[in-house]
Amino acid sequence: MSRPVPVIAIDGPSASGKGTVASRVAAALGFHLLDSGALYRLTAVAAMRAGIPLDDEAALERVSAGLDVRFADGQTWLAGDEVSDAMRSEAASVGASRVAVHGGVRSALLDRQRAFRQPPGLVADGRDMGSVVFPDARLKVFLTASVEVRAERRYKQLIEKGLSANLESLSQDLRERDERDSRRAHAPLVQLPDAIALDTSSMSVDAAVRFVLDAWEKAKVG
Ligand code: CDP
Repeated sequence: MSRPVPVIAIDGPSASGKGTVASRVAAALGFHLLDSGALYRLTAVAAMRAGIPLDDEAALERVSAGLDVRFADGQTWLAGDEVSDAMRSEAASVGASRVAVHGGVRSALLDRQRAFRQPPGLVADGRDMGSVVFPDARLKVFLTASVEVRAERRYKQLIEKGLSANLESLSQDLRERDERDSRRAHAPLVQLPDAIALDTSSMSVDAAVRFVLDAWEKAKVG
């Protein structure tokens, strides 16, 4: 029997650097990339635009099942609108973590995520890549960093994009989102026993990418 398409799952809390590391690792290996958080962000943006309350699970499930999304050239379109910046705003971040608590929304997004698993391989980043979406991932990495470092990284990202940001409220938002992601009943953020932990608090992006690529060299022959 042929071996399944390999997956590298990179999970961890907000602003731990998962997105950057995942995209660099995917580029280095020529693998596809799944930014699963984007789907929760887009669900939140679509719901907010339609005036749907973020606690209306049945309506949100319909929104996520019917998301009209297009990813191309580093940009994202939702129902024909370019939303690349809008989906990265703090409102969309908080909204994403609120819609993500609903089991119905999570199930509605499962097939869409698994469809990214195409040869020669996939790097997937999120909260439940190794636990729920790709439990058979060949390599699982749990990427983390201290809240202070993560808040500063997020602050820099937003300022560089010309968006407004406040360090104190960002730290507060991060703590609340960590709490919501870790305590929810469906697919909570956990460090799996078979995941390799990597604390990037005092690590450069280059070093984190190298660490994952080295781990992959070992995992792929196993
Ligand atoms: O960039 P950041 O890590 O802050 O967020 P993200 O990865 O874009 O995810 C936004 C939100 O979506 C998170 O706070 C989670 O609540 C949710 N999410 C999730 O529940 N499961 C995933 N696989 C990915 C994101």
